Amino acid sequence: MTLPRVIGHRGAAAVAPENTLAGLRRAKALGASWVELDVRLTRDQCPVLMHDARIDRTTDGAGLLAELAFAELRALDAGAWFGEEFRGEPVPSLAETVAELGRLDLGAIFELKPAPGQSAATARAVVAVLARHWPPHLPPPMLSSFDGAALAVAHRAAPGLDRALAVGAVPKDWREQVVTLGCAALHADARALDAATIAAVAARLPLFAYTVNEPEPARALTAWGAAAIFTDRPDLIISAIEHT
Ligand code: G3P
Ligand code: MG
Repeated sequence: MTLPRVIGHRGAAAVAPENTLAGLRRAKALGASWVELDVRLTRDQCPVLMHDARIDRTTDGAGLLAELAFAELRALDAGAWFGEEFRGEPVPSLAETVAELGRLDLGAIFELKPAPGQSAATARAVVAVLARHWPPHLPPPMLSSFDGAALAVAHRAAPGLDRALAVGAVPKDWREQVVTLGCAALHADARALDAATIAAVAARLPLFAYTVNEPEPARALTAWGAAAIFTDRPDLIISAIEHT
């Protein structure tokens, strides 16, 4: 597993609408070589990029993503809420996303965000798209999730892909969880991290910290041993830690 120390969070979420193709292009322009993207299933089981269970915050629609068919979702605007220059930006399918990543030469972590009862379906749908469409010239993607059941299914469906367990604060039983799920990394909330916790985890496997948009905490987390930082501002954080 060779990842950069800075990963664009939801693309480059401070400067372009999150989880959109425009966001991927902006992340690349700002110097990112990998991005993190959130994946959910539509009602008709199409994997698409979306953080929230509801579409209200990041589109001009309303309701639960899991209750919309892909064709219905496609009629919505996922860019104008962020800025007029992004009007017309759609919610991308995972397949479209993968094609754009290939054009941009960007690596990716796909965070599985299953709706209740959809852990296995989400993992299988994402693995199926990646198996079919992942550009061979890119490094293999990483799968992550807060949902252990989704990671377990991903493990069986795509044993060759690295997986990461996402957590808020690092739980007491993190060792057991990463062993059980065969995880290659732990993704933890930066606000709940300290030097001792990072050192304990980093002695066992890489720890990635989310979401850090200020130079000073990014430098501190890196100095304490965090392997990578998720950030909405890749340009700022790359320049903050490039000489550390
Ligand atoms: O995977 C790291 C991070 O993206 C987890 O939090 O809520 O931004 O998806 P969230
Ligand atoms: Mg995420």
